[in-house]
Amino acid sequence: MSNLKLLFTANQKYLVDFDEEFTDLKRIGRFKTNVLHNQKEGVPFQLVNHTCMLLKPTLHDLESLIERGPQIIIPKDIAWISYRLGASASEHIVEVGGGSGALTLALAQSLAPTGKLSVFEQSKKHLRILNKNLNRSPWKDSVVLINEEFTPDTPTLICDALFFDTPQPWNFISWAKKSLIPGGLLMAYLPTTNQVLEFINHLDGWQEIELVENIQRDWQADKSALRPKNVSLGHTGFIVNARNIDLH
Ligand SMILES: C[S@@+](CC[C@H](N)C(=O)[O-])C[C@H]1O[C@@H](n2cnc3c(N)ncnc32)[C@H](O)[C@@H]1O
Repeated sequence: MSNLKLLFTANQKYLVDFDEEFTDLKRIGRFKTNVLHNQKEGVPFQLVNHTCMLLKPTLHDLESLIERGPQIIIPKDIAWISYRLGASASEHIVEVGGGSGALTLALAQSLAPTGKLSVFEQSKKHLRILNKNLNRSPWKDSVVLINEEFTPDTPTLICDALFFDTPQPWNFISWAKKSLIPGGLLMAYLPTTNQVLEFINHLDGWQEIELVENIQRDWQADKSALRPKNVSLGHTGFIVNARNIDLH
């Protein structure tokens, strides 16, 4: 893992790699990283006319400073997905379509240190970004990255839960049936209702089928004008899950 710290200023935050000789930050400029080495976490100090503080990065810091390749899943959906998948340190979860790793980071945090996340990502370009984002986190060792196209013929992987962020997850439902433990959870993230309908059409015999769209409204925390923000994100995706319970 890189030796990362969060550098916080009044208007900006940055991730700084303490193993790099030089650091180059927008609005602050370039400086030798070792000028930060003697600073204590949580204690303000001056850096090129900016009052700064070093902190330990949280999942939210890592997520908000993530390098983006393909479209990422955002926190309102990540929270539900992670909760509903039951991600905990005794589980093995398979994630198909790692992309930029926004979900991967959150699942890895919940699974560490003894759980495991197996992530399929077919694109070399996306894998490079995913790897970089994951390497910045302390949870890298809980993740196995698989740079392969996931297909219905992919060898079975016994798992507690399974998550698809791919365009046609209904092609993988037979695979899911073979790989999930009894009671295991299958989940898909789908941008359109057309995909939701196709997916649900393939879920005959599955139990506890649920369909969720999370709506979050962000407000401005401004003492003199406490109200919803002018611009808010519209639709992101639908989340469908079903449970592998065979009562016959
Ligand atoms: C929308 S992105 C996933 C974003 C990710 N969930 C995140 O939060 O950062 C979908 C990813 O799935 C990958 N993908 C699509 N079909 C795949 C398949 N059959 N096997 C492996 N990866 C696949 C794409 O290359 C792409 O990176």
